[in-house]
Amino acid sequence: MLVLDLGGQYAQLIARRVRECRVYSELVGHAVTAEQVRARNPHALVLSGGPASVYAENAPRVDPRIFELGIPTLGICYGMQLMAQELGGRVDRTGVAEFGKTAMHAEDAQLFAGTPPDQTVWMSHRDSVTAPPAGARVVARSPSTPIAAFEEPERRLYGVQFHPEVVHTPYGTDVLKNFLYEIADAPPAWTPAAVIEEQVERIRAQVGRERVLCALSGGVDSSVAALLVYKAVGKQLTCVFVDHGLLRENEAEQVVETFGGHFHVPLVHVQAQERFLSRLVGVEDPEEKRKIVGEEFIRVFEEEARKLGNVRFLVQGTLYSDVIESGGAEEGVAAKIKSHHNVGGLPADMRMELVEPLRLLFKDEVRRVGEELGMPEQMVWRQPFPGPGLAIRIIGEVTAERLEILRAADAILQEEIRRAGLYRELWQSFAVLPAIRSVGVQGDERTYAYPIVIRAVTSEDAMTADWARLPYDLLETISSRMINEIPVVYRVALDLSSKPPATIEWE
Ligand code: XMP
Repeated sequence: MLVLDLGGQYAQLIARRVRECRVYSELVGHAVTAEQVRARNPHALVLSGGPASVYAENAPRVDPRIFELGIPTLGICYGMQLMAQELGGRVDRTGVAEFGKTAMHAEDAQLFAGTPPDQTVWMSHRDSVTAPPAGARVVARSPSTPIAAFEEPERRLYGVQFHPEVVHTPYGTDVLKNFLYEIADAPPAWTPAAVIEEQVERIRAQVGRERVLCALSGGVDSSVAALLVYKAVGKQLTCVFVDHGLLRENEAEQVVETFGGHFHVPLVHVQAQERFLSRLVGVEDPEEKRKIVGEEFIRVFEEEARKLGNVRFLVQGTLYSDVIESGGAEEGVAAKIKSHHNVGGLPADMRMELVEPLRLLFKDEVRRVGEELGMPEQMVWRQPFPGPGLAIRIIGEVTAERLEILRAADAILQEEIRRAGLYRELWQSFAVLPAIRSVGVQGDERTYAYPIVIRAVTSEDAMTADWARLPYDLLETISSRMINEIPVVYRVALDLSSKPPATIEWE
């Protein structure tokens, strides 16, 4: 299914929801022509919502010949209004806007099959359709919007004023499924297994008999990308895992064990801990730390790549959201190495062709593909972890001793959060070590030690975040374990700040 993007976030969310219904969907710019649409041969089209008014200057439009292709088309919100305007209906600013949860009455109609006549939907509009497209039947109304949905089965044109893609529309998924399965006859065939099969074929076609290099970070994206490429071309792939010594407890071992031991992927494990640590001596500035870790990463990676001789392809775990963000959703946009900070940024002048097996996937789909490939649960569901690692969670100079303390504290935190069943609910949860000395008493003596800060946040996309309301009992367990088990920790604090204005990381 193709989603014609008429305005940012709406389109992306629709594409995700459709994929959750197991129909593959892709975003295309609204300027796509009828010929281009026909060439893609989609089962269905959706015209997304958008912030504009159809009467605004430069309001996004679509090629009207698209409506003559006979492809089932659903207009959502702005998309519906655009259809009405193009197809002989009317759109007006009636003076009645609707925002938020709205009661709606649905008729007996294809879109609403199996849903109750009275339902709640999420509305967000100022303009309203005041006459449906010629020949269309009005199939839903709300108190202030007499035309909340229309259907024209003959021309296969459908429109809804509400947002079926948001969770606040309880029957939204049913409406989408009715459209996809019943109206458009699109089979729910988009499964992780199908993704793997398709990607494996694509990778084989791209790579041929050449060799492929992959920088493995231990994060879910690079891991799934590597496994897909390995499944496709086996030992033509070499993974390079640069261990910078700034990972959490057991993480490096897990990467080596999973890739080398379990999957038998050719793996170069570079023990570069000393190199990174020595370059970080005396460095306290956060950006300086990032720069050093990034640069050193590139240096180590290049050295290893050179040792491997002539390798033509490089795997990168670019996701569909990265592609959309960089405006590359259209076909034919050249792939370029972006400073992908997950792996600390790869060399900009490395003249290698990119293999990007996750380019069409959203993060949750990457995880499902990882599960299907047999990756361990701990890796598949790993929370995001910054490229510079623990270096930006020690506030102050990074030393071996501080790393050891932080790692021990973080391991306790992770273990307890998992035990409480909260790990997947949290966007991130980790320990921070501000390198300040806090006073404690031991016997009669005053002693000094580092405090540990617990940071746990919920978030959708890391752009905003809220501090997580962890249960007191859990906090107590974490705190007393840290204090009892790590001899030099006497004080544990909880970070109660949201983003913005605080960032998720402390540095
Ligand atoms: P902040 O701290 O800016 O973090 O709220 C947002 C998200 O980005 C991650 N992060 C980084 N990731 N290199 C990375 O690869 C970095 O330098 C870096 N700084 C922050 C952070 O963990 C969070 O998920």
